[in-house]
Order: sequence, then structure tokens, then C-alpha cells
Amino acid sequence: MRELIRQLEEERILTKEEFVDLLGNLTAEDEIVLKERANLTSRRYFDNKVYTRGLIEFTNYCKNDCYYCGIRRSNRAVERYKLTMENILDCCREGHKLGFRTFVLQGGEDGRISDDEIITIIHKIKEEFPDCALTLSIGEKSYDSYLSYYKAGCDRYLLRHETANEEHYRKLHPDNLSLENRKQCLRNLKEIGYQVGAGFMVGSPYQTLEHIAEDLLFLKDLSPHMVGIGPFIPHHETPFANQAKGTLEQTLILISVIRLMLPNVLLPATTALGTIHPNGREMGILAGANVVMPNLSPTNVRKKYELYDNKICTGDEAAECRFCLERRMKKIGYELAVDRGDFQPI
Ligand code: SAM
Ligand code: FES
Repeated sequence: MRELIRQLEEERILTKEEFVDLLGNLTAEDEIVLKERANLTSRRYFDNKVYTRGLIEFTNYCKNDCYYCGIRRSNRAVERYKLTMENILDCCREGHKLGFRTFVLQGGEDGRISDDEIITIIHKIKEEFPDCALTLSIGEKSYDSYLSYYKAGCDRYLLRHETANEEHYRKLHPDNLSLENRKQCLRNLKEIGYQVGAGFMVGSPYQTLEHIAEDLLFLKDLSPHMVGIGPFIPHHETPFANQAKGTLEQTLILISVIRLMLPNVLLPATTALGTIHPNGREMGILAGANVVMPNLSPTNVRKKYELYDNKICTGDEAAECRFCLERRMKKIGYELAVDRGDFQPI
């Protein structure tokens, strides 16, 4: 195993069989070595700085019905909301005062929001906050839509591929969604010039080590600027309500493997990781992550953007989350960076 870790560190891409072997046979000592190597790699590129992204969950309307997701179309128990332009700008104003220089606008695939509306939002944010980067995460769109958002000034796009295996993809999504289209969207986004984020849930239902190995190979091949991974956590109003959640241990191992495989990638310690363990985000940073994404959404809508049960920080003000994370990072010897935190090629 040590030899495989060393090879990963030297950026030799492992084969699918080697990844399965590595993920299935790590001893407790191997895990310590893996995390140490990943942490050293992360410090080499980012020192003790953690980039922050202010997350604004601006709509929970969604036309999709992904089996794992708490805001899926069929969940009638969710009260739907969409923030107004002024609400969104207020979140950015508050965030800017708190030191955020990246805003992430995330939402369900809200079919009622037109491209023109998205473009207006981008223009307004970029006009008022020219020193900030803007990330969109609103799902699968056409090439032309992605191009129009980019031309309007959007810098980055997050679209997790969810799983790189066809059969597994079909177990997580209804028939109208295809892995091929998801992958094509990612390629389009890259071609247009966005800083692109892919990723997947750890421990999603029916996931095997072979699937994870395929995810890792897909990530290496796509070579995204950002990778978002977090544990799957069941939501009680979904078909996966009774499925087991992903584990802390496996998520941390994968953060470390991804750090070694893509050494300068932007890699968040996600809210889901902070949800399955009180110190999950700190452990994620120590395992090689270098980004946190505190919530800037207005407090009165947070509970309604519950992708999974018991999501943390749904009752807190933006400032509380910001300072809480700052304290948490300080405790482990890290500082929150006040800059856009763009991807830096090696
Ligand atoms: N609609 C956009 C999209 O599909 O890319 C962005 C919003 S979507 C809710 C953001 C991410 O949440 C998904 O890519 C998925 O990986 C994650 N997610 C959804 N349900 C989850 C769950 N039950 N546990 C953990 N993560 C979940
Ligand atoms: Fe939100 Fe800690 S990050 S309360």
C-alpha cells in the first residue's frame, strides 16, 4: 500500500485495479501516512490558508427527481422558495463585509428561471463586486446557456458528475437524466473557459469500490479545477430514506487520494462532512482539503434547502458561520484567506 501511496504522490495514475486494492486494503497506519502525505502536499501549495466561498442557495425549486436529493421534485413536504434579486445582492453585501471574495450561487434546476434572469443576476453581482469571483451551480444546461453565463462574467461552475459508472448513475437517477449528458456538460464548461468543479457523493447507495475507482480515473482524465466530495446522507422524504450514510473515514481517505492525484486542485471540506461528524470539516482540511463554503443564505430559507437530514448551520446567521469556521480553522493552525482563491496552474 505504501508503494501505491508513493506512486500517487509522484503523480503516476494508478489503474482501476490498483485503486480498488488501495481503497480496500489500507491499514490504520497506511491511513495515517496517506493523510500526512496529502496534508503536506496541500500545505506545499496553499500553506495554512483555507479559501472561503460564500454559498447562496437561491432557489429550491427543481424539475429533477434525483433519488438521493431532499429538494427533488416529488418531495411535496418542502416549502419552495426563490430569492429575489435584491435578496441575493443583500447576501453578497453581507458576505463581502465578512471578507468573502467568491460567491457561489447554487440551486435546484429551477425551470422557471430564464437565462436572461441568470445573466441579469451575474451582471448585477459583478457590477457591484468587481473584486469577487462568481460560481454558478445550477445543473445541466445547454452549451449556449453556459456560454452566455460565461460571457456575462461568471467565472466558475460546479457540477458534480455524481458517479462515473453508467449503471450506478441509473440507480441514482430517473431515466430522463443521463451520465453522458452530465459528462458532456462538464466538457462544455471546460471548453468555454470556466474553472470547473466535478465530484461525487461518498457512500451513495449501491456504490462499490470499483465505482469509486472509476470516479477517480474520470477525475484524473477531466482534470477539473475543483473537486467536491462529501458523504451521502439520507433524507427522510426520498426513496433512499433508509439507506446507510457514507462514512467519515472513507470520505477522508478519498480527500487525501484526490489531493495526491490532483495536487493543486481546489478541494472543499464540505458541509455534509461537517454534518456526519462535529469536527468533520477540520478533519477534512487536515486530510488535504483547502476550501470551506459557509452558508450566506438568509436564515429564513435555510431549513428549506435541506438536501439531507440534519444539515448543519441551518439556524445560524452568515456572520456566525463565518466566525465559527474561523475559530475552528484557527484551532488546527489554519487561517481563512480573504481573496478570490482562483485555481493556480502548476
Ligand atoms: N442542481 C444542481 C446540480 O444538480 O448540480 C446543484 C444543486 S445539487 C442539490 C448539489 C449537490 O448536492 C449534488 O451534486 C449532490 O452531490 C449533493 N447532494 C444532494 N443530495 C445529497 C444527499 N442526500 N447527501 C449528500 N449530498 C447530496
Ligand atoms: Fe455554520 Fe459553524 S459553520 S455554525
